Amino acid sequence: MHGILTTFFMSTIVKISYTCENSTTIEIPEDFIFSASTSAYQIEGAWNEDGKSPSVWDTYTHNHPEKIADHSNGDIAADSYHFYKKDVEALKSIGFKQYRFSISWPRVIINGTKINQKGIDYYNNLINELISNGIQPAVTMYHWDIPQYLQDLGGFANPIISQYFEFYANVLFTNFGDRVKIWMTFNEPLTNCIGEYGEGRSGASVRAPGVGEYLCGHHVLISHANVYHLYKEKFYKKQKGEIGISLNLRYNYPKDEVITKDFVMRSLDLVNGWFLNPIFSKNGGYPEELVKIFEQKSIEEGIWSRLPIMSEELKKKIKGTADFLGVNYYTSRYVAPITHGENLNKFDYDTGISYSMDKNWYKGITAWAYSVPDGLHDLLIWIREKYENPKIMITENGWTDSGEMNDFDRIKYIKDHLAAVLKAKEENCNIIGYTVWSLIDNFEWSEGYTVHLGIFAVNMSSPEKERIPKRSARFLKDLIANKKFEI
Ligand code: NOJ
Repeated sequence: MHGILTTFFMSTIVKISYTCENSTTIEIPEDFIFSASTSAYQIEGAWNEDGKSPSVWDTYTHNHPEKIADHSNGDIAADSYHFYKKDVEALKSIGFKQYRFSISWPRVIINGTKINQKGIDYYNNLINELISNGIQPAVTMYHWDIPQYLQDLGGFANPIISQYFEFYANVLFTNFGDRVKIWMTFNEPLTNCIGEYGEGRSGASVRAPGVGEYLCGHHVLISHANVYHLYKEKFYKKQKGEIGISLNLRYNYPKDEVITKDFVMRSLDLVNGWFLNPIFSKNGGYPEELVKIFEQKSIEEGIWSRLPIMSEELKKKIKGTADFLGVNYYTSRYVAPITHGENLNKFDYDTGISYSMDKNWYKGITAWAYSVPDGLHDLLIWIREKYENPKIMITENGWTDSGEMNDFDRIKYIKDHLAAVLKAKEENCNIIGYTVWSLIDNFEWSEGYTVHLGIFAVNMSSPEKERIPKRSARFLKDLIANKKFEI
C-alpha cells in the first residue's frame, strides 16, 4: 500500500480515501444515507383500480401509443400497487435505510378535491411496511403524473393549480405526516415544465413554447412555497419533518477556448438558477440575468415579459422555503452561444445557450446519458459557493442500459459518481446521502420499457413480477455493509 491519504484529527478519521497498487479505496462516513428511488406512474400500474382517476400519462399513452418507443404504457408496469412488499423486500435485502417514492396525486384525490380512501390505504400500507422494515420513507408529492382533471384546467399553466396542490399536500400531511418526515414537493420541474408546457411533449394538453414553461415554473414555485408554509404553520410542531424539492441540475464546461468563464457562469445561473435562485439565494427571485433577458425581449416583442414578474412580496414568500435541496444528477454539457439552425427548445433559444457533448465521454443508451462524474463534483462546489452551502441529498443518479444483468457499466457509473459526491463532501459541501435511480426497472417515459435504469430487473412477463437483483444491486449491498468501495 502506498500514498496513504488517511489523516487523523483528534483520533478521528477525517479523510476517506487511500490508494493500493492500481485502485483507491474510498471509505464512506458512518452517517451517510443510502437510498433508492422510483416514481408512482413508472412502477405502480393499477392505473384505474380502486377509484384511481386518470393522470395525463394515462391519457397520453392511451391516446398516442405511437409516441412511446415500444408503444407501451404504465397500466401495469412493475405492478407495485399489488407487489409493494416485493419492493420493500428488495430495499431491505440491499440494506437501504431510505426509500424515495412518489405519491400518485390522481390516486388519492379525484376531481381536484375528493379524497379516495383506497388510495390513502395503499400508501399507508406501503409506509407501514417500510417503517416496520427499518426503512425511512422519503416522499415526492408530484412526479409528473398530474390528474387529467387538473390538466384540463390548464395544469401548471393556470395559477389556480397552487390551491389544488395545497389541498393535496394538506391531505398528505394529515394522513401520512405522522410517519413521513422527508417530503419533496416537486421532482425536476425544469424537465416537466419545458417538456409538458413548452414542447407539449409528454402528455400535457398545453403546448405553448416560450410561454407555457415559464408559467408552469412560476406556479410550481408558488405551489412549493405555499406547501412549505402550510407545513411549517400547521404541521411542523407535531410532525417535525423536512420539506425540500428535487431539481435536475448539471454543470457546464466551455465548448472551446473562445468561450469565456463569464459565459459559462452565466449559463449556470440561467439554467440551474431558474428554480434554485428563487428558493435558495439570499435575495430570492429569478436570476437577474434571466429577468434582464425577458425585459429586453418584452421590448422587442411588444408584450409583457414572458417570464412572469415576481413581486418583492412573492420573492420573500418563496425565498428560504426548503430544508434541503434534492439534486438529481445524470450528466453535464459543453456550452456555447447559439448559432442559427440549431434544433433547440424555446428555453434554450431564450437563454441563448447551445449544448454539446464530448464524444470521449462514456455513454449510456439514451441521447442524454453521458457519464460526467466531475460535473457532479463541480456542480456541488458551485452550489456550495453560490447558495451558502445548503443541505443536499442526491435524490437521483443512474445509468441507462438495455437490461444487462451483469451491469458493470452501471457499477462503474455509480462508483465514479459516488466518489465525486464524497470528494465534494470532504470539501465541506453539506451532503447527507446518495439515492440511486432506480430501485427497479420501470416505465421510462417516452422510452417505455426499452431503457433500463434499475438495480433490480422486474420479470415483466410473469404475473408475479419478480424483482431480480442485478450485479449492481449486489455491489451496493457490499458497499453499504462495508462502508467502502474500490475505484
Ligand atoms: C429523472 C426522472 O425524475 C425520472 O422519472 C426518470 O426516470 C429518470 N430521470 C431517468 O430518465
